[in-house]
Amino acid sequence: MRCQVFPPTTLGGVEPLILGLESTCDETGAALVRGTELLADVVASSMDEHARFGGIVPEVASRAHLEAFVPTVEEALSRAGASLSDIDGIAVASGPGLVGSLTVGVAAAKALALALDKPLYGVNHVIGHAAVDELVHGPMPERTMALVVSGGHTSLLLVNDIATDVVELGHTLDDAAGEAFDKVGRLLNLPYPGGPHVDRLAREGNPEAIPFPRALTSAKAMQTHAYDFSFSGLKTAVARWIEAREESGQEIPVADVAASFAAAVADVLVEKTIAACRANDVDTLVIGGGFSANSQLRELAAERCEQAGIDVRIPPIRYCTDNGAMIAALGSAVARRGVAPSELSIGVDSSMPLGTITV
Ligand code: KG4
Ligand code: ZN
Repeated sequence: MRCQVFPPTTLGGVEPLILGLESTCDETGAALVRGTELLADVVASSMDEHARFGGIVPEVASRAHLEAFVPTVEEALSRAGASLSDIDGIAVASGPGLVGSLTVGVAAAKALALALDKPLYGVNHVIGHAAVDELVHGPMPERTMALVVSGGHTSLLLVNDIATDVVELGHTLDDAAGEAFDKVGRLLNLPYPGGPHVDRLAREGNPEAIPFPRALTSAKAMQTHAYDFSFSGLKTAVARWIEAREESGQEIPVADVAASFAAAVADVLVEKTIAACRANDVDTLVIGGGFSANSQLRELAAERCEQAGIDVRIPPIRYCTDNGAMIAALGSAVARRGVAPSELSIGVDSSMPLGTITV
């Protein structure tokens, strides 16, 4: 159904003020961006409500978005010293993510677009994790590699143009990097989410103590899955190793387990990313997503990219976890490029393909 179609935003000297809305998982985010300048960024999280369940409960997340949405938008406007009537366009993450959570944000964004008579841009959340870097380090070079790593995603994107041309080179075939850390955290009896705890423990251990597998790196696997990842077998290898130690009554050297596991994850992520940069003649790498907080990944990426002559950009961690700024940043790039806005009949796409920037 065709409801309302707006012409592309024209710059007219002043760049459009974009409201970015994020509600793909457990964070409700609202942010205002003009050009590549971030004017306000407010995030409400329902993580505390999920912790006791050991994972995100979609129903709980959806309800939390419903409650947090209006206060979050009002707070963002107030911090930017702006009012609703100043907004030139509304960008909303319409996928990938949890259907219920996405629906709350997209429905709210449509209501705002309709009430304000402003263009709506349904954008890809994962590409937002790369786009947010423009708010920190300025416009991306024409060809940039983006490694987006979080609890839900592990994807390698070739960004030819953040507003119009993104190619997914590879992704995880099973667990995301953060998810694998959370599962290993559970094996080591650490609180949920285990990722940051495993990271902390790993810093005290020997990364070479246990030779955990590096999946999809054999010559044969590289023929078909050069830029794909797999962490589920690694997590199982860690579980088996712990079980064997327990059965023989030996103590578990938790720091060494954490360090060896973390080294295996970082090694595969960094090696495949550098190979993708080389194969595509790219010398700028953006790392985004909540897992980019991981120290083992940061250290290894810095070290090996320097050797390879690749410039690594990692936004500050508050822009790497889910937030409205990343959606506003992508919406701003899209609006400035004159990409046609979305129709008000758009739905949500929980598994939106990563080559899709706007819907
Ligand atoms: O992007 P994000 O905030 O949330 C979603 O995936 O939606 O990423 C969170 C994920 C969780 O799995 C968390 O355990 C993991 O990233 N994580 C870490 C670290 N910080 C967050 N994993 C390892 N080391 C860290 N320092
Ligand atoms: Zn995310």
